[in-house]
Amino acid sequence: MSDGKTKAQAQAEVTVTPYGPERVRVLYAPETLAARVAELGREITRDYAGREIVVCGVLKGSFVFVGDLCRAIALPTGIEFIGISSYGSRTETSGIVKITQDLSISVEGRHVLVVEDIVDTGLTMQYLLENLRTRHPASLKICTLLHKPSRQRADVPLDYVGFVVPDEFVIGYGLDYDQRYRNLPYIGVLIP
Ligand code: IMP
Ligand code: MG
Repeated sequence: MSDGKTKAQAQAEVTVTPYGPERVRVLYAPETLAARVAELGREITRDYAGREIVVCGVLKGSFVFVGDLCRAIALPTGIEFIGISSYGSRTETSGIVKITQDLSISVEGRHVLVVEDIVDTGLTMQYLLENLRTRHPASLKICTLLHKPSRQRADVPLDYVGFVVPDEFVIGYGLDYDQRYRNLPYIGVLIP
């Protein structure tokens, strides 16, 4: 194979799902995700040493990542979720965003770490940051599992990035297509 992989290796990266006949090309296997999440947890633990943080997961896509990441952070950590819906097509955001479920606490004076599944155009994150800033946290940082820089339209500072992904629509490990595939333990691309 041209990229140095054997045919068997390349085939092993394609898998079936419980959802139907479509197959998935696996980009990040469960063990690859676990290793990177552990690294991110160590980095966050080091950077915030001596402080208490509030992890603010963005629903629904971040729920798996938050579950794994928060267990890799060895600090006093509050867990909050914020629900957001962006108007747009199934695979593209419009930047018009609505909060569908708010945090359960005030984050004034607290160290807030926003945890996202993926930053694509950045429009959702830009809106969320503007909203959270008005609540006067002591600090506000972003941790995203995936970043698609090729499509970025809003300039948002990403403090922690798990993986930089190519411009392909990815599913699994919390990420959905039309509310499906969130429970796949790997991240991949649907093969049409
Ligand atoms: P953005 O506003 O364009 O950055 O998009 C952010 C949201 O769109 C993410 O939180 C995801 O929910 C969704 N999204 C963007 N790209 C993908 C993808 O490749 N797979 C699944 N969801 C995605
Ligand atoms: Mg999301």
